[in-house]
Amino acid sequence: MNIDIKKILINEDEIQNKVKELASRINLDYKGRELLLLCILKGSVMFMGDLMKYVNVKSDIEFMSISSYGNSVVSSGSIRILKDLDMSVDGRDILIVEDIIDTGITLNYLCNYLRGKNAKSIEIVTLLDKPSGRKLELEAKYVGFEVGNEFVIGYGLDYAEKYRNLPYIGILNESVYRQY
Ligand code: IMP
Ligand code: MG
Repeated sequence: MNIDIKKILINEDEIQNKVKELASRINLDYKGRELLLLCILKGSVMFMGDLMKYVNVKSDIEFMSISSYGNSVVSSGSIRILKDLDMSVDGRDILIVEDIIDTGITLNYLCNYLRGKNAKSIEIVTLLDKPSGRKLELEAKYVGFEVGNEFVIGYGLDYAEKYRNLPYIGILNESVYRQY
């Protein structure tokens, strides 16, 4: 195990099983329709890559990059779109693929933005949910795992842009924060 990691919270097998389970639910709910899978970079990159393999509904994929954190462990609350949509979402059924929902500020902003662009429906699949961090009311239709009020990394999630490539979800040693 990486020396910066205090504990593995969710291992690779648990993640893969959950991703398949979420995809099965999505496949049932969207049967016969067309989806736009919208991956929120960079944190959702691994989740998107795994999930889309198991989604058997006819789908387009899109990527947006939205910044809300900077290099900190707490949300700054100010949102910037770093990479916008390439295609029109007018009349589309959108499924936002997110790594984690904390305050809800990012996705609340994004849902309003997509509504303004005339999306037909907007739902969220998030691998992780931190309900204790919520500042705005926001619910994902599909949630992989609930986590407590701790900062998690791995499987796409970063601390100061590091640890995204770990195949599991873990908690960092406090010594890592103290270096910054
Ligand atoms: P929100 O706007 O507070 O809901 O923040 C959502 C975004 O913050 C997520 O998409 C993540 O990129 C990031 N984030 C929130 N909590 C964590 C965490 O525990 N580890 C890593 N990134 C996090
Ligand atoms: Mg994110």
